[in-house]
Amino acid sequence: MKARLTTPGARSRLRTRLLAHYDREARDLPWRGETDPYRIWVSEVMLQQTRVETVTRYYGPWLRQFPDVESLADASEDRVLKAWEGLGYYRRARSLHRAAAVVRDRHGGVVPSDPAGLLDLPGVGAYTAGAVASIAFGVVTPAVDGNVKRVLSRLYDEPKPTPRWLEERAAELVEPRRPGDWNQALMELGATICVPRVPRCERCPVAELCAARAAGTEQDRPAAARKKPARVLRISVALLYADDRLLLHRRPSDGLLGGMWAFPEGDVDEVAGRVGARLVGDVTALDEVRHRFTHIDATYLPAASRVDSTPTPPDDHRWVALRDVEGLALPVAQQRILGQWTSSRESEGA
Ligand code: ADE
Repeated sequence: MKARLTTPGARSRLRTRLLAHYDREARDLPWRGETDPYRIWVSEVMLQQTRVETVTRYYGPWLRQFPDVESLADASEDRVLKAWEGLGYYRRARSLHRAAAVVRDRHGGVVPSDPAGLLDLPGVGAYTAGAVASIAFGVVTPAVDGNVKRVLSRLYDEPKPTPRWLEERAAELVEPRRPGDWNQALMELGATICVPRVPRCERCPVAELCAARAAGTEQDRPAAARKKPARVLRISVALLYADDRLLLHRRPSDGLLGGMWAFPEGDVDEVAGRVGARLVGDVTALDEVRHRFTHIDATYLPAASRVDSTPTPPDDHRWVALRDVEGLALPVAQQRILGQWTSSRESEGA
């Protein structure tokens, strides 16, 4: 009963039907029809863990700022993170930046066309290598992302697909004449029809070939992994200011929000002590700001205070003039904290 796509004939019908559907229905996205490998690479990195609607707002401005590998490789990390600000998963931006330097220095500025060469680049895993090789260079190779995993798990009614199983199934399905379109057609099916929880099988062009549909198990494929509960953190942050300058801290490059700017963590008096300043006037407690990261449920408890001076701070801290703050890459939660502080000052008429 399960085995529907085990014959070459069935796989061939799947390809024909899904590609015909893709040709009719594919969403008109800014990177569709793009042939420049760098631009395709950027789109695939942005699309990891991020919704298409969000990516479409960042893609054009990014390419205007960094139109090619060289311009990205030559840019400062601050500019790169600023352009990525709000997209989240900032490690992607730092890896893309490093990878651009590798392409400039070791590949003469030319993006490698084979999956192995791509895999050698920082931040490029099997998915990105497969997507770029197939879409930009027509290499017959699969690209398995979360959407494709769900589609394959349903087509084969496989509750617990392993990475190896997925690579094997995806590899035998790739349409050799149009590998890039094929991979995107699978992703697109997962994003628009074969969606999580309740799929829209009545609109699916390949429902008759789907083993989960036949078995009635489509809502349970793939089986839900037991999720580890998020770590709950409550984090005090200090907004210290004097002479229209605010104290900011650059986060270590290898951790959460690496390389991004943030308000120093800790109570106001403790942070003031750390930089050798003294609090003057009242401490203003601002509203809590909650932000959900993949594995962390963070609640920021911000407090603001004026200080008497802006002594040279320790490494990775900087007194930043207010008008310059918006030029730095600040994570979304930090921007909300900043916004609160700004409006509390305005309402005081400061
Ligand atoms: N998700 C990741 N890459 C994609 C692409 N090229 N088209 C549609 N969805 C995607």
